[in-house]
Amino acid sequence: MKIVVIGGSGLIGSKLVPKLREHGHEAIAASPNSGVNTLTGQGLAEALKGASVVVDVSNSPSWEDAAVMKFFETSTRNLLAYEASAGVGHHVALSVVGTDQLSESGYFRAKIAQEKLIKASPIPYSIVYATQFFEFLKGLADISTDGDKVRLPHVLFQPMAADDVASAVGRIAVGPPVNGIVETGGPEQFRMDELVRRLLASLKDPREVIADPKALYAGAKLSERTLLPDKNARLGETRFETWLTQSAAKAAAATH
Ligand SMILES: NC(=O)c1ccc[n+]([C@@H]2O[C@H](COP(=O)([O-])OP(=O)(O)OC[C@H]3O[C@@H](n4cnc5c(N)ncnc54)[C@H](OP(=O)(O)O)[C@@H]3O)[C@@H](O)[C@H]2O)c1
Repeated sequence: MKIVVIGGSGLIGSKLVPKLREHGHEAIAASPNSGVNTLTGQGLAEALKGASVVVDVSNSPSWEDAAVMKFFETSTRNLLAYEASAGVGHHVALSVVGTDQLSESGYFRAKIAQEKLIKASPIPYSIVYATQFFEFLKGLADISTDGDKVRLPHVLFQPMAADDVASAVGRIAVGPPVNGIVETGGPEQFRMDELVRRLLASLKDPREVIADPKALYAGAKLSERTLLPDKNARLGETRFETWLTQSAAKAAAATH
């Protein structure tokens, strides 16, 4: 099958494309770097010619409220219109577990808008809800930093390795459209503040992590279980400590 991966150069996309190729598919990595821009439509008609499936794992370069809304609305509208013209039979998009409960956040309002457009379109679809990527935890600390302190809620979450996210998205992309949401998560539950504290300690990052019941997640208030996947979620295999050891080894190899 020809499968076009929008955001194919990103964290998830760059892991997904080789996995699809290993399974014998013609996977095309599409993004502005390779001349395909979903905001302007540039390169889309050519990239989608003959494609059976489009997987959207793109992300907005800016998380500012208006910019992120414009990104997901415009790019999703364009993508779905070009897919309809090209006869694409399955639109797969990656979103985040709990999105529907996070409308206080500008980022998540934009993800909700993206999902609405997909559901309203005539193209069969699958939306994959993943939990927070381990690779995003440092970024989570960064967006939650206040002076030299990181303020995070003491809520439960079940993060996962980007590699396992890519495997889950790949499995859905090569199967029939579910016309609904499928959830995936990590193998272990943690408290958000505790895990970020552990990560920063392992990175020798001096910031202090404070459990703060008033702290927001990308602008939204969380309750104890908002970020947990549902009981039918397919769980990734990679445990946090394994990922941490592997990423430390990779970082050390890169500096030698
Ligand atoms: N962070 C998390 O923990 C988490 C959890 C669950 C789900 N998600 C979802 O996962 C998705 C992917 O996130 P990610 O972190 O893998 O993204 P990422 O690494 O930031 O990659 C973003 C990708 O989007 C592409 N892109 C940007 N502007 C584009 C445009 N105008 N047209 C086409 N492509 C464009 C980029 O292309 P260039 O390289 O060419 O700029 C890049 O390939 C997002 O939808 C996010 O909501 C994230």
